[in-house]
Amino acid sequence: MATINSRSCFKYLLHLAQDNLEFRLPEIKALLALRGKPFQPNENFNEKSPFWCLDGLSEEDVRSIMARSVCAKSAFELWGHGPTHSELRTSLLNCPSENMSPFMINGSTYRINVYTFNKTLAFPDRIKKIDALEYLPFKGTVSLKSPQHIFSLLEDYGTDPNNIPEHPNYIYFGRWIADGQRDLICSHSVKNRHFIGNTSMDAGLSFIMANHARVKENDLVFDPFVGTGSLLVACSHFRAYVCGADIDYNTIHGKGRSSRKNHKWRGPDENIRANLRQYGAEKMYLDVLVSDASKHVWRQTALFDAIITDPPYGIRESTRRTGSCKDVVKPLDGSYVESHVPVSQVYYLSDIFTDLLNFSAHHLVMRGRLVYWLPIYRPEYSEQMIPLHPCLRLISNCEQMLSSHTSRRLITMEKIKEPQELDSLTHLVDSCFSPYQRHNAFREKYFSGVNKRSGKEDNKPDFNGE
Ligand SMILES: C[S@@+](CC[C@H](N)C(=O)[O-])C[C@H]1O[C@@H](n2cnc3c(N)ncnc32)[C@H](O)[C@@H]1O
Repeated sequence: MATINSRSCFKYLLHLAQDNLEFRLPEIKALLALRGKPFQPNENFNEKSPFWCLDGLSEEDVRSIMARSVCAKSAFELWGHGPTHSELRTSLLNCPSENMSPFMINGSTYRINVYTFNKTLAFPDRIKKIDALEYLPFKGTVSLKSPQHIFSLLEDYGTDPNNIPEHPNYIYFGRWIADGQRDLICSHSVKNRHFIGNTSMDAGLSFIMANHARVKENDLVFDPFVGTGSLLVACSHFRAYVCGADIDYNTIHGKGRSSRKNHKWRGPDENIRANLRQYGAEKMYLDVLVSDASKHVWRQTALFDAIITDPPYGIRESTRRTGSCKDVVKPLDGSYVESHVPVSQVYYLSDIFTDLLNFSAHHLVMRGRLVYWLPIYRPEYSEQMIPLHPCLRLISNCEQMLSSHTSRRLITMEKIKEPQELDSLTHLVDSCFSPYQRHNAFREKYFSGVNKRSGKEDNKPDFNGE
């Protein structure tokens, strides 16, 4: 039988899920980078298509991408392709027989699947498509239940559900290699999670964030706004050691009111460690601490391989930080005594992002990644609003729509140099973060979606959670 390496001349076909479209390319690129491989699409590459043909990979590369990807559904070794069935036939007959024959020998068992994108075919029509492949020299016997080899005919009918062509726009045939990790979306759903909160991050997005951050085995990952630890759950699944911090004592200690329906108070073991235990990843748990992101407690050293977080936006939770005597502005009206130090004060979004980028510049290892969500008021969005830092290179910026006027963007940055004295972000604040500054501008805009005619608010989507 041909070895994996001798088959690296093949193109591979990825079949991608058609949700979270913008998140797919950075995910696949990040997973390829973990293998030290560049992203090499074929010349007709269309980012929005559910099918991507990739060059320059081995079967092992493809298997390792699929062992991580939540954006890709399946991967195939591409044996033939074309815009019509007759061109597919020509392409398949040109595929070197020594590459195909090891999977078609006497005594082997196989199955052929037919998959159509944007069209549903009746069972007899599928069978006809399989019969039409009789020119392929399969010598084994068909086994529908447990075949040794699975082949797939994939037909692409475009992406417009209102304009489905009679014949496919493009057809592929290949040997199935592996499925992606879409099952994680269900198996790790927050609906069945031991410890959840109002802002627990959706499981699929948590895994995408871990992939964008290129989290790998034995990495050290930190979430400075850890909440119920959804992002730690995803990173620990990929065997990274995880830790986090949150200003809220009750969240860190799993106390207080439960976010679960019909439960008034949190149970005795509702905490982040128990979440990791639920998924068999407790040994990856380091610890979580009560700490304010604006006054972190870490010594000044590059420590973390990745910082992955979902900061508070002030929509479903308040953006507060601890008060300190340094921040006291003496009130002119004498409303409190001179020695008064407020327990907490407003933590403006602009300061949250400034602190997060500065913290990451100092505490990420070189080439370590920061992945976080940035809330967006869409009518005013421009790329200039993305906070930048001299030590962090912007890798990707992917939008997730939340309503007609709001979205959030998943920002991925990579540390490219150690910070010097002048590399602090404070001097950039005025130019960069105007939409998030001083007052709770974003919150006000978020709640400005009032339908003027009905006088009712838009149906507000969750910023976090499923
Ligand atoms: C959007 S939630 C994070 C949700 C989390 N990803 C999860 O899956 O549960 C933001 C978290 O930031 C915390 N937070 C707010 N202000 C903070 C501060 N100044 N320092 C640290 N954490 C803070 C809140 O208590 C909240 O748990």
